[in-house]
Order: sequence, then structure tokens, then C-alpha cells
Amino acid sequence: MKFKKKILSIGAGYVGAPSMVMIASKCPDYKVTVVDINVSRINAWNSDQLPVYEPGLDAIVKKTRGRNLFFSADVEKQIQENDIIFVCVNTPTKTFGAGAGMAADLQYWEKTARQILENSQSSKIVIEKSTLPIKTAQAMERILASGNGDVTFDVLSNPEFMAEGTAVSDLENPDRVLIGSRETQSGLAARAELVKIYSHWVSPEKIITSNIWSAELSKLVANAFLAQRVSSINAISALCEKTDADISEVARAVGTDSRIGSKFLKAGIGFGGSCFKKDILNLVYLCHFYGLPEVAAYWESVVKINEYQQERFIANVLQSMFNTLAGKKICVLGFAFKADTGDTRESPAINITRKLLAEHAEVVITDPKALTNAAMDLAQDAGKIRYVEDPYQAAAGCHALVIMTDWDLYRNLDYRKIYKSMVKPAFIFDGRNIVDQRKCFEIGFNVFPIGKPALSRL
Ligand SMILES: NC(=O)c1ccc[n+]([C@@H]2O[C@H](COP(=O)([O-])OP(=O)(O)OC[C@H]3O[C@@H](n4cnc5c(N)ncnc54)[C@H](O)[C@@H]3O)[C@@H](O)[C@H]2O)c1
Repeated sequence: MKFKKKILSIGAGYVGAPSMVMIASKCPDYKVTVVDINVSRINAWNSDQLPVYEPGLDAIVKKTRGRNLFFSADVEKQIQENDIIFVCVNTPTKTFGAGAGMAADLQYWEKTARQILENSQSSKIVIEKSTLPIKTAQAMERILASGNGDVTFDVLSNPEFMAEGTAVSDLENPDRVLIGSRETQSGLAARAELVKIYSHWVSPEKIITSNIWSAELSKLVANAFLAQRVSSINAISALCEKTDADISEVARAVGTDSRIGSKFLKAGIGFGGSCFKKDILNLVYLCHFYGLPEVAAYWESVVKINEYQQERFIANVLQSMFNTLAGKKICVLGFAFKADTGDTRESPAINITRKLLAEHAEVVITDPKALTNAAMDLAQDAGKIRYVEDPYQAAAGCHALVIMTDWDLYRNLDYRKIYKSMVKPAFIFDGRNIVDQRKCFEIGFNVFPIGKPALSRL
């Protein structure tokens, strides 16, 4: 079949692959290829065991793979063959040198820019989909312009707003698609090409266009605002615990104000995931760089409250269990950073588990999708932790349940059966406020929610 256009994603991770799967599904007349330097990841995308768990993704991959969707490890050849290239490589926080612990590590992104330049024999549109510091497009343009001038490149910014766990529905029905470009003739023409792709399934009023810097910055700001709401409600949860107010009732009362809205107002153990912390720290770094220390301090406090929430949680576990966890068995219910994903990057469960181990507790971890990643995250502590997929078996013989992930599964477990199998007094520390806390208390548990009075007989 002759395809109308050929589209490439460099990067087959949580963003690159699902977003290309959606384009392939909605644009059968386009050939879509996803490449990665990680060969085992590519092999997994070509197998029945996809490397990323997302509800609904398997079915679309089955429908499109081999038709107009292809996964390949041959990065150079695919750059040569494709005209529209999405750059979806990782941009983690830098761990070394200037800006360590804050700035974005742009080494993967820069290598990609050079690879595109070296392997291009025809002009191309290069689209930043990775989350990048503002002004990165300028650096990309400079690298791409450093060739012999035979081929030209237009750089666009098209940040991805999908969330893990709901990637398929977010990609299928996005709140908006944002496309930033240079406002030159060729920049606007490149922008129109990308609008054409999304127009296959996204209505025109949801496709927002802007200048390239606004697009780059908007992604960082969107994540900072989302995380800020989580930290705001979590900060108030600490006050609720001191005053007998109930954070769910406060959140409901506050969130019904249409100016505020109810989403992202759920108190809990704090945000995790590969993006929120990284992107806020990147924003903080940029504010310092541009001489705005007050703005930097404002956004940094969002990360600090997130850490504080975890410190409070673990202090509460220790104090409630008579100030010693040594030799006690603790069941960590859920390890993914949120429900419906196997991703554990920056999951609060990592930090909490390490703190439990530091108190010499024996830890059992259960999760329906994230045990492989959990074992990798905690490889240094191998031998000290048991991984058990069945939550009932995991909880048996434990002194406490520590709920870390809001999996639906944990709402409806048979807590009476679990209680019977545990050491008494039995505790639940509900880091997500998802269990029926009153019912669990009536069963016999001592229940410690977030932002609500404890239900305890001790
Ligand atoms: N994960 C999310 O929910 C999410 C949402 C929106 C935006 N983002 C942003 O998207 C970007 C990618 O995130 P992710 O979660 O998909 O990361 P990821 O680590 O899962 O995937 C990135 C992939 O890029 C590959 N890669 C790196 N350098 C390469 C190169 N030179 N050539 C080919 N492949 C290369 C890596 O091997 C890896 O598989 C980041 O900037 C992130 O901030 C992520």
C-alpha cells in the first residue's frame, strides 16, 4: 500500500509508543514507525507482552501493528525514510554537574538532534513531544542548521498531556492538543501539517496553536499547576488531622466552587510518577536561571510539601505502632505510582518502603502490575523484601497494611478475611483514603486515614 505520509517517533516509551499507536489507529493512510535504541523494548512492542501496561492499548496495537504501525531498532534508517519526526526521548532530571538535581538532562535529546542531522537527506519536520525546558527548540534549530544547508528542518513543539493509566482515552479524547511553531512561512506550513494529522480525530476547537515558546512552557506549567493542587490539599490534610476536620468533606466543599473545580483535590500520600517532580524542578531551575528567585521558591514549595506528606505518613506509622517497627511485618498494598499502570518511577511507595526497611520492618509488597518494576527499584534491598501478587497471601501474618496505590482492587478486598489472617492489633494506614474506613474499624482494624481523625482503639 502507498501511504500518504510517513511519521516516525524516536523513543518507544510511555509517551512515544502510545501516542504513535493512536495516530496509526486514527490515520490508516499514514505509515507510523516507532524506533528506540533499547532493542529489548522494541522486541517487546513487537511481541504479545507489551512493555507498557495501559488499559485498552493491547487491542489497538493488535489492530494496527503490521498494517501501518511498525516498531524498529534501526534508528538511522528510519530517520532517512521519514518526513515527520516526533522526538519522544526521556528528559530526566540531571544527576551531575551544573543544575544537578534540578535541571533537565538533555543528553538523550541532543544525541537525537545530531542523529537526525547526520541521517537526513531530505527536509523534515521535527516535533518536540518530550517535555523540555523553554528555549530548547532554539538549541535544536541551531544543531539542525549546522549541516551543509542542503536540507532544512522546521522544529515544532507539541507537548503531550496524556496521563499514564488513562493514556488511551486521553489520546483519543484530549482536552486539547497544543502545537507551537515559529511564526515564519515555513514554520506555519509545518504547523499546518501537524494540525492535519490531529484533525483526523480531534475537533478544530481543541487544537490550540501558539508560538513555540508558549507551547514549550505550557507543558511545564500545566504539570506544575496539577502538582500544586495535590500539594495544596495535602497541606490542608495535615491541618485536618490536628483539628478533627475531614479532608474529604473540606475538598468537596471547596471543589464544588466552579472557579476551583473538584479534580486533583484528593488528599493522599503525595504525587509520584516520572513527570511532576522533574518538571517542577525544571521550572524552578529555569526561574533561577532567569533571575526570579521568588518565583522559584514558590514552585519549589510544591515539591517540599510532597516530601513532607511522606515524612508525616511514615512518622505516623511508627508512632501509632508503639514507636517500633523492628521485626514487624508490613504489607505494602500497591507499588505503582497510581492505579492502572505498572510504572513505579518516583512512586511514593519506594520512599516509604525504604523508610520501613530502615526501621528494620519486614516488608511484603503486593501489586497487580508493578512487581517487576518494584523489584528493580529495590534491587539493593533484595532478600529483605517479599513480592507476592495475591493481596490476601501478602497480608497474611502481617501487623499492618500500608496502602500506597489507589487500585480499585483494594477498595473491594475482603477485609474481614484479611483481618483474621493478620497479627493483632492490626493496622491500616490508608495512604490513598480508598478503603471503607469505618467498616474496617468495625471489623477490628485500627485505621489511620490521611486528613481525617484516626479510628483506633489504642
Ligand atoms: N510518562 C508520561 O506520562 C509523560 C507524559 C507527558 C510527557 N512526558 C514526557 O515525554 C518524554 C518521554 O517520557 P517517557 O515516559 O515516554 O520516557 P521513557 O523513558 O519511557 O521513554 C523514552 C525512550 O526514549 C529512548 N531513547 C533515548 N534516547 C534515544 C535515542 N537517541 N534514540 C532512540 N531512542 C532513544 C529510551 O530508550 C526510552 O525507551 C519525557 O520528556 C517526559 O517528560 C511523559
